[in-house]
Amino acid sequence: MQVTLDGQRILVTGANSGIGAAVARELAAGGARVAVNYVAHPEATEALLAELRASGTDAIGLQADVSDAAQVAAMYLELDRCWGGIDTLVNNAGIDGARAPAWEADPVAWQRVLSVNLYGSFLCARGALQRMVPQRSGVILNMSSVHERIAWSGFSAYAASKAGLGMLTQTLAQEAAPFGVRVLGLAPGAIRTLINQSVWSNPESLRDLLTKIPLGRIGEPVEVARLATFLVSGMASYMSGSTVYCDGAMSDYPEFAHGG
Ligand code: BGC
Repeated sequence: MQVTLDGQRILVTGANSGIGAAVARELAAGGARVAVNYVAHPEATEALLAELRASGTDAIGLQADVSDAAQVAAMYLELDRCWGGIDTLVNNAGIDGARAPAWEADPVAWQRVLSVNLYGSFLCARGALQRMVPQRSGVILNMSSVHERIAWSGFSAYAASKAGLGMLTQTLAQEAAPFGVRVLGLAPGAIRTLINQSVWSNPESLRDLLTKIPLGRIGEPVEVARLATFLVSGMASYMSGSTVYCDGAMSDYPEFAHGG
């Protein structure tokens, strides 16, 4: 079985670190053109672009805060100018926010998590669908989390945003299906990235985390990236409207309530 993405124009949001960067690398290895969206750390973006270009990929960097409608609109205009449109969007940009029970949470910080993870995904999906629906083809992959389905004490905004993303996936899939556009979710569990470094780099918290993961280890970004590549490819042509879990069976433990 060969997954090929020959020349597909793919935008990955939040692509200059973590799972996003791993996804950008795998998509490039599959033959796609990759647009690396980022909001901070231009030097990390430049390094990734240089790496992708060195292996022959047509890669561009696009700076935009996904939660800002004007910046998202400008990002799509730039994509139109460079590549004449888009074939696939990976809505990956996300933040987890500061850990706090709801009664101690800062409302502005809470809302910011929703703005990036849910509203930002909507804005980017909207821009993508405005192009995919008329061309009668396209794929949107929303990067969710096991917390789409299981609660996470201290992170109510994050869990609510991912639960919302699950329903956004289903509804957009229903709207776009008649136009040949697929919309899917991918829900990673605990993956070795910066977002949870404080957990996996501390032996005690890592031990506690591993009790929640039946496979007995945390995942690597490339393991999520390979699945993402498959899901956006033609190999998954009959999949739409659902969220696929990539979590070492972590979501088998719905009582996971004390967080990382
Ligand atoms: C979070 C990680 C966490 C994992 C499992 C992910 O969505 O970003 O920080 O370790 O869920 O709880």
